[in-house]
Formats: sequence, C-alpha cells, structure tokens
Amino acid sequence: MGYFINCIVVGVTIILQAVTAEPDTSISCCSCSSLLPDAPLGTKPQVLPSPFAIEVNKRRYSPDDYGEEIEVNITTRIKTKGFRQFILQAVPIDQHGNVGDNPQLLGSFTNNDINKVTTEFTCAGNRAIKSFDSSNKTHIRFYWKPQPGQGGNFVFRATFVESSDVYWVREVSEPIIDPNAPPLHRKSTDTILPPLIAPIDTINCGSTKSCYRVPEGCWEPYCDYIATWQHLGSNQYRFEIGALTHGMGDRHVSLAISEDIRWGGDRVFECIHDSRTHQTKVIQAISEGHSTTPLPDPMEGISNAEGQYWRGRIRCRFDVIPTANTKDYPLDGLHYIILSRGNTEKDMVVILSAKTEPHRYGVGEIPVATPEKVDLSSTSVNIDGFARYPLVKAHACLMVVAFIFFCAIGLLWTKYYRTMWPNKRFLGLRYWVVAHFNCMLWVLLLVIIAIICIFVEVGGYSQKGERSMNSRGERILKLISLNQNLQ
Ligand SMILES: *[C@@H]1O[C@H](CO)[C@@H](O)[C@H](O)[C@H]1NC(C)=O
Ligand SMILES: *[C@@H]1O[C@H](CO)[C@@H](O)[C@H](O)[C@H]1NC(C)=O
Repeated sequence: MGYFINCIVVGVTIILQAVTAEPDTSISCCSCSSLLPDAPLGTKPQVLPSPFAIEVNKRRYSPDDYGEEIEVNITTRIKTKGFRQFILQAVPIDQHGNVGDNPQLLGSFTNNDINKVTTEFTCAGNRAIKSFDSSNKTHIRFYWKPQPGQGGNFVFRATFVESSDVYWVREVSEPIIDPNAPPLHRKSTDTILPPLIAPIDTINCGSTKSCYRVPEGCWEPYCDYIATWQHLGSNQYRFEIGALTHGMGDRHVSLAISEDIRWGGDRVFECIHDSRTHQTKVIQAISEGHSTTPLPDPMEGISNAEGQYWRGRIRCRFDVIPTANTKDYPLDGLHYIILSRGNTEKDMVVILSAKTEPHRYGVGEIPVATPEKVDLSSTSVNIDGFARYPLVKAHACLMVVAFIFFCAIGLLWTKYYRTMWPNKRFLGLRYWVVAHFNCMLWVLLLVIIAIICIFVEVGGYSQKGERSMNSRGERILKLISLNQNLQ
C-alpha cells in the first residue's frame, strides 16, 4: 500500500512539474561570430521580418570624438511579443553596406537599463553585450562609444531569441556613417528606386486609428491584407492600405467603400505599382462587375500620397477630401470595406493618363470584405475576418450531397442490384430502376437549386455566371453519359 501511495505521489509531482514548467528557454545565446544561438537541432532562424528592432539616435558619428555616444535601443515592435535572450554588437560594413565574414567588433556598450535587465559582456575584449538571463524583455536602452582611432561605417547587429525554436539572427540597424570614410556605394539599381515609406503601424489599431486586418491581429509584414483609416476632421480622411501580392509585373491593392459585400458600383482607391518606373500611385476609380474604371480625374481629391512595392508587399498612404466627382460616394456613415489585390491587367501609364482601361481581378483573387459595416469616422474599429457568402456555401453543400451521395448510390443500384428481386415490381418497374431513378431525380433537383443559389449570389446573369453555368452543364452531361456507359 505504501509503495502504491509513493507511486501516486511521484506521478502527481511529475505531472505537476510538467504542467508548471517554463517554456524551454534554456538555450544559450549566442556565438560571437555567427550570432547563432545554441538551438535544438532542426530549428532554423525565422525568415519573416523580425518583430524586434535595433533603433539608433544618430546616423552619423565622428570617430575622433571619444566623448561621443550613440543611443541604441533594442525594442519590440509588437506590444504582445518579448524576447528572452539577445546579443548585440557593432560591426564594420563595406562600401555596399555588407558585413564581412569574421568582422572585427567595434566600440563598447553600456547598459542604460541596468536596474531592469541584467546583461553581461562577451566576445573579443568584451565588445559585445548579451542577456544574462532568460526573462521576458521588451525594451532595453544602451549607449555605445567608439574606441579611439576607430573609423569607418558600421552597423549594429543583434540576434533575438523568443523561444528555443523561434529566433531571429543577425538583424541589423540602419548604417552609421563616418563622414571621413569613403561614402557607401549604392548599387546602380538602388538609385532609381524611390525611397521606402514608413511601414503601416498597427500598435495604435483601435485607439488612434481604425484597422481592418486579415488575418486577425497581424502585424503589417505578416498581413495578407491591411487597411487603416483615420478621420482627420471635417471631410478629410487618411487611409493606409497594404497587401501581400504575388506575380510578375504590375500589382495593385484596392480598397472599395461599399454598401454591400460585393465588388461593383463602389468608390475604389487603388494603390498601383508600375514595375517599369518603380512608381506606386494612388488613383480613384469606380468598380464595375469584376473590374474598375478610373474616375475622369483619378487623382483629384487625393493628397500626401505615397506608396511603395518592396519584397512582395505593396503599400500606400494617402489623404482624401471630397470632390465634385465623388460627391455621390460619401465616406461618412457606415460602409463595408472591401480589399482586393493582384496583378493589374493594363499598363498603369494608360490608367494614369486617365484613359479608362479597367483592370480585372483574376482567378484566386477574390476580394475580402469586412464581416460587418464599419464607421469610417471612428478610430476605435479594429476588425478582422471576412464576410462569408452563405449562398456560396449552400451551393457547395448541395453539390456535394448531389454528387457524392445521391449520384454514388444511384450508380450502385444500376451496378449491383439489377439481378436482385427479379420477380418483384413497383408500379410495373423493377426495384433497382425505381431506386436509381429516384436518386438521379434528386441529383437533378439539388443541382438546379445549387445553380439558382449561385445565380442569386452573383446578383444576376453576369458573363461570369454564364461561363460557370456552361461548365456546370458540361459536368452534368458528362455524368449522365458516364451513367449510360456504366449501364
Ligand atoms: C530609446 O528609448 C527611450 C526610452 O524608451 C526613448 O526616450 C528614446 O527616444 C529611444 N531612443 C531611440 C534611438 O529610439
Ligand atoms: C512578454 O512580455 C510581453 C509584453 O509585456 C507580453 O505580452 C508577453 O505575453 C510576454 N511573453 C511571455 C512568454 O510571457
């Protein structure tokens, strides 16, 4: 009995320990040269942008002035995320802004938050600073001082460890320039690229501005779609829109202010990237069917517009005031917001010269709409998810029931039950014929209802509807002929 109780006690203790155990953060951070943490085998550094950043208060320094200090903060860009371990160094960069393989470490750090976060010095001559424990950290301030006689351009670089298998390696700061060193040589392609614009900040979603994000609560680099809006007073609004876009050539992300959850008949702001000039512009248009037509003067009423396309993401920021062209499409009151993204079909040059060439959205680029109407003059909207189309679901369900259930059973009757009950009749017909006929009748009925559903959903007999009708008709014909063949 004593042995048995012992067993229970030990078991319970083990379970309790497992439940209360801290997440495994015991990995040690980090190698002085590669900045890799000693992470479990099989884990890799994160490739998506780091939520943690290195901020500096100066972009230039004078190495001769030993008294000069640079303020360096390592901080989280997402309020709800913290890092547990880090290492921070200053390393020289070459003329292209790259860090060499085994760089010499520069200067020295002081921890300015010593009473909050314990740190230790490490690497060649204590030139790098790193975390001492694995507590949850969000913001740490440092000072950095050059050593006498040091010169040249450099960057700060750091590794951030969030947990034993989530870590970002060798994140770099903005370059810090030594005015006496040879200037950074920009690649020839860099010069034609317009400057990057500030990212869409999501920290203030729901407090100083309203946001619509897919997926829920994402931070801009991770958002499939993002739109934010702010009422600037009187009739002026500021919008930011961004999306992840795939494909070659010109791309767009568009925001429609709509009375329903469907594309068409709405005022649209389009953020369009021209891959030849590398310009990203904002124009206004009206959506029609599955495309848009720019307004006669597409940029009227839009001010402070900026945009960029960078590493698969397109982003624009602009202010809007009403004009004569848009007086029928007011921004106040409640509206659905619809976001669409994809390739643009026509040259932006054509669009910008205000010749009305529409662009369409293609396969797999169905827009997303807010699940409910939102108030554009409110700053407390923070919405995600997207409107579902119940009739589309009904259509899909009906089709599945028709073909997977009734059609399959109907075929089984013809295949396996012909020889059963040879002498029995129902209204003069063999049983298998009756069963088969009934099943097929259900298939037909359900398909007809499903088609009606999809027609009601797309709001009438559009060209697209016609096309899908034909293909569906073909499918039915094919099944009927298959049925005949089996018989
Ligand atoms: C570093 O953080 C402090 C306090 O949080 C802030 O006042 C300062 O502006 C920050 N410095 C930089 C360069 O971001
Ligand atoms: C770390 O701190 C942040 C901000 O205080 C918090 O949101 C997050 O949940 C914390 N993480 C853990 C694992 O405790």
